[in-house]
Amino acid sequence: MPWVPCDPSLPPVNTRRPQITSATAPPAALQSHELGSTDETIAVLRRTFDELGDPFRIHVPSRGASTWVASHPDDVKHVLVTNHRNYTKGVGIDRVRLLLGNGIMTSEGEFWRRQRRMMQPAFHRRVVERFAAIVREENESLGAGWSDAARGTGDVNVTLSVSRLALRVILRALFDDDLAQLVPDLDRNPFAAILQDARRDTRFAYQFRQLARDVRALVAVRRGRQQERFDLLQLLLEARDADTGEVMSDAEVVDEVMTLVVAGHETTASTLNWTWLLLATHPDVAMRVADEQRAVGDLGHASYADLIRLPYTRQVVDESMRLYPPGWLLTRRSIGPDTLGGHAVLPGTDVFISPYLVHRHPRHWRLPETFDPGHFDPPQVEARHAFAYIPFAAGPRHCIGQNFSLYEILLHFNFAVRRFRLTDPQPVQPPLEARINLRTVSDVHMRIQQR
Ligand code: HEM
Repeated sequence: MPWVPCDPSLPPVNTRRPQITSATAPPAALQSHELGSTDETIAVLRRTFDELGDPFRIHVPSRGASTWVASHPDDVKHVLVTNHRNYTKGVGIDRVRLLLGNGIMTSEGEFWRRQRRMMQPAFHRRVVERFAAIVREENESLGAGWSDAARGTGDVNVTLSVSRLALRVILRALFDDDLAQLVPDLDRNPFAAILQDARRDTRFAYQFRQLARDVRALVAVRRGRQQERFDLLQLLLEARDADTGEVMSDAEVVDEVMTLVVAGHETTASTLNWTWLLLATHPDVAMRVADEQRAVGDLGHASYADLIRLPYTRQVVDESMRLYPPGWLLTRRSIGPDTLGGHAVLPGTDVFISPYLVHRHPRHWRLPETFDPGHFDPPQVEARHAFAYIPFAAGPRHCIGQNFSLYEILLHFNFAVRRFRLTDPQPVQPPLEARINLRTVSDVHMRIQQR
């Protein structure tokens, strides 16, 4: 049954679906589509959701099978949390594995569990805030460029600036002073291929794996010397399995490092980019953010707990990730039989959850298509289904870098909004590029003024 948008004058609903179990599969789209591999996928998902409601099925020719797409928060909770053991990451991750080897993003089962347990402490809030100086210095460096732009052409490529910022922050957090050895000239940074090559094809994957060789050489150097370092690489090298006391092999460390570069860079950059774009097109919201930032002042080397002093900016960032979740498609495959939305799921079924659709579900969002940070006013959050908002996914495989990215993002706005005003974005409504992450197809330029 198609969904009817909810009345915006009513409070958001916390709809639970009546449980009717049926042997039949969910309704199927009339046209087949290579789900997940093309930029049209978002349009196809939206259209099919409007026609069929949720869950629905789409026939995927290359797999010769139907993929289910589930968007009801009850189903999200079921697949990602309650019955997560019945699902592997499935088909979407095969392409990513080319890039990331057997790192934590792509591995499964007992090996994944062990890696996750070993890596989790490196992303604790108390650890993340130890990267404050790096975040600050990289914002200063971005700020110097933006000041020049404000005095000069008055134009800045926001997409490129925030992409550089996010890449440098994660690289420095990973390698500390060894970054200079790994990358002697940051203007010819080999990792910059990540910035430039948007095609994510196999050639890119090949180049990327070459970089892994350099990281491997650095790992060997680190193993051979005693040091008092603090960076993510060192935390990975020293992490021990709580049961066996084992450390990771060099190859495992390399795969995890490459995973963190990719997972930690583009997602954060994309959120910064979309948020600046939304601020530039919503001056009333931008003004409120600027007021909050001025009132709070310079958070500088803030602790994680200090971020609570930026509640409105946080709502804006949350709303930006609602409309444009960088991780827009979570792919899963069932291992054994299951029941979803009342339908029987056979083993081996691809089940996709798109945060993009979930975040625009008309039963759960007052104004699904409108940028309104009020969606995250505390009473609205409380009234809403907890699984209607999943920018970092949910359950055991939720984003390990959530604290890291929120810390970086909020400190960036604390730094930049008090110094700069960005307006007149070009293009105003950039088309979406929905590949591994949800990005703007082209870079967004804005008019920049110093405050
Ligand atoms: C705004 C920024 C970010 C967003 C929106 C985001 C989103 C996500 C999502 C949706 C997933 C789940 C993917 C799936 O289940 O298929 C994920 C997983 C992951 N993210 Fe992030 N992420 C962000 C930043 C980061 C950062 C900064 C790091 C590391 C420094 C990171 C590292 C990871 C890793 C390693 C995983 C895999 C975890 C596992 O499978 O155990 N992410 N992220």
